[in-house]
Amino acid sequence: MNFRSLPSIRCLLAVGCLWATLPAGAASFSGEIGDGAALFLPEGIAPDKLPTSVALVETPKVRGPLPAGWPLKPQFSQTEGKSRVTLAVPAGTSLYGEGEVTGPLLRNGTDTVLWNTDNGGYTRDRGRRLYQSHPWIMGVRPDGRAFGFLADTTFHAEIKTTDVLIDFVSDGPAFPVIIVEQSSPQEVMRSLGKLIGTMPLPPRWALGYHQCRYSYEPDARVRQIADEFRARRIPCDVIWMDIDYMDGYRIFTFDPKKFPEPAATNGYLHEHGFHSVWMIDPGAKLEKGYPVFDSGTENDVWIKAANGDGPFVGKVWPGECVFPDFTRPETRAWWAGLYKDFIGKGVDGVWNDMNEPAVFDVPDATMDTGARHRGGDGLPPDTEARYHNVFGMLEVRASREGIQAANPDKRPFVLSRSGYLGSQRYAATWTGDDVSSWEHLKVSIPMSLSLGLAGQPMSGPDCGGFQQSATPELWAHWVAVDAFFPFCRGHSDKGTPGKEPWMFGEETETVARTALERRYRLLPYLYTLFHESSEDGMPVMRPVFFADPKDANLRREEQAFLVGGDLLVIPKWAKQPQVPEKWVHVTLVEGEDGAPNNEYQAEVRLRPGSVVPLGEIVQNTNAESFAPLTLLVCPDEKGDAQGMLYEDEGDGYGYRSGDYALTTYRAHREGDEEVVAIERTAGERKLAGRPTVVRVVTTGGTHEAKATDGGGTIRVKM
Ligand code: NOJ
Repeated sequence: MNFRSLPSIRCLLAVGCLWATLPAGAASFSGEIGDGAALFLPEGIAPDKLPTSVALVETPKVRGPLPAGWPLKPQFSQTEGKSRVTLAVPAGTSLYGEGEVTGPLLRNGTDTVLWNTDNGGYTRDRGRRLYQSHPWIMGVRPDGRAFGFLADTTFHAEIKTTDVLIDFVSDGPAFPVIIVEQSSPQEVMRSLGKLIGTMPLPPRWALGYHQCRYSYEPDARVRQIADEFRARRIPCDVIWMDIDYMDGYRIFTFDPKKFPEPAATNGYLHEHGFHSVWMIDPGAKLEKGYPVFDSGTENDVWIKAANGDGPFVGKVWPGECVFPDFTRPETRAWWAGLYKDFIGKGVDGVWNDMNEPAVFDVPDATMDTGARHRGGDGLPPDTEARYHNVFGMLEVRASREGIQAANPDKRPFVLSRSGYLGSQRYAATWTGDDVSSWEHLKVSIPMSLSLGLAGQPMSGPDCGGFQQSATPELWAHWVAVDAFFPFCRGHSDKGTPGKEPWMFGEETETVARTALERRYRLLPYLYTLFHESSEDGMPVMRPVFFADPKDANLRREEQAFLVGGDLLVIPKWAKQPQVPEKWVHVTLVEGEDGAPNNEYQAEVRLRPGSVVPLGEIVQNTNAESFAPLTLLVCPDEKGDAQGMLYEDEGDGYGYRSGDYALTTYRAHREGDEEVVAIERTAGERKLAGRPTVVRVVTTGGTHEAKATDGGGTIRVKM
């Protein structure tokens, strides 16, 4: 008898006796839906009547029968009002993904709860549930071939994994499952990108360093912080306004004493090369005479209480609040409309916080599961039990639409605390209220990696930790690594000592300056990666095993990480990191190797065969970065290397009608010379000839050549 062919027995062994009572069955329908994906439906769901999905960009269309020999087939079952799907996975498979989880990166043997929760310090429920839910897992087989498992349900769920089983139990009705089969983890990510969409290209300024605090107030303090960055020559692009700018925490208002002229505050920031991000929470103060409450009530936008016709009322910062029913298209349009005047004050980006939604003084820190949503556009009317996990995602969808309408020529930037599979279509994210501790610094890496593997390319922790105070040493180590995250923002809690880079003494300030200078030099590469991600869904920050999915030694590595495919980052504190061999150490900032702060800076290595573009050190992304452009060339054994540089206006949508330049550089060896040339260009953007420095990096040393006009061939004597 073939043990592997009996999923129910394997499940019994894997998940214990519970399973024995459940009759599991094969899908009542299965079919191929393109891009390596197949759809599996339980009893009761017909392929031509699929429920409207929040995660997927479009309803899957069945193209044909399941291909012969399709290896992975989920088993469906129902019990006690719960819907269960199990997937027997091949022995030796490494499981990843699951989005926002507290680590480890390798998800075999974990137990995760999908129920968006305000989980400050990640202490509630042992951190098994956080602010976001991603019903998705990627599996990588021993030979590097990979698959994906997507459970298309928004209800509360629990995912338990072992080495041989994914066990997904939802509190809601039966749901469709999609399985992706691909030749590599990278190809699985591309398939996922097609299914759930990608993050639209963010404005370039959002890739710079962001400085936040709960809260900078009054407006003079905001200007002071901005001035301090420029005076100390620490690169920074964005200053953030947390809730205290509001008038009594009423959303879409400004405190008349502390922020009497928000347009002038934004104007000041803009003049000094900064952008601004301002917070908007979802709860509106229940108060007659407050325009947001009045107009919302008039338009009947609020989520209804479980019983009766009145709105659900819950306490948040302003006291008793009501919450928009974002499942309704009419409510989303109303919410979007609120941004017109707000953005008109020169606000560049919006921070949607507390959108699990968080509710104070109630046992589960959120809305009553019986609260009623009315739905629309295919979403059925139902309770919070169905819509809780997508409340934040539907909110940021409406926010993005409103910001876009208010400023059609700019790319919206929204940061959201809660999220669900697919939220990257509308917003970036951060990992919530972390703590200034070594544990939280270390876990921030697998957290952002797992978010990336679940389709969200733009995330990062509160650098230095949000809660409690940081030692200078911890903050220095944190910023040294954080500088390489897709989203890089320092933040700190009310009542903690300030955590701006200069608050920890001269040594830590120097470490921060160097770390952020390294980030700013890498911005052309980072921007190119975000372009790539917007096209095909590849994460920007990637696990080390992406370098060689067949290498079993790399599968657990979660201290070191990759930025794109070509750059390896190894934190100074990493213990015995498992990294690919032969990658070459590189310096990003002049003199960095010998600098006294080098004991903190992460080590950076290049993939043999890569060309990585660098800009100059600038104080913000408005400044001209390519004077000159530097190309780091790391030849492989044959002397070959290749890389790309994407450029455009940095904001707006000109790139969609051709105003961009995508340059492919190729290098090869001729005798004792490394020859670097532009292999091809795409896009209509005209690039003036510009000075270019080529730095060939090898284990044997570095060789450099300069050209005044980088359009031609550049030869570097080795
Ligand atoms: C909770 C958020 O997680 C935190 O970042 C923010 O500072 C506070 N809310 C206050 O708005």
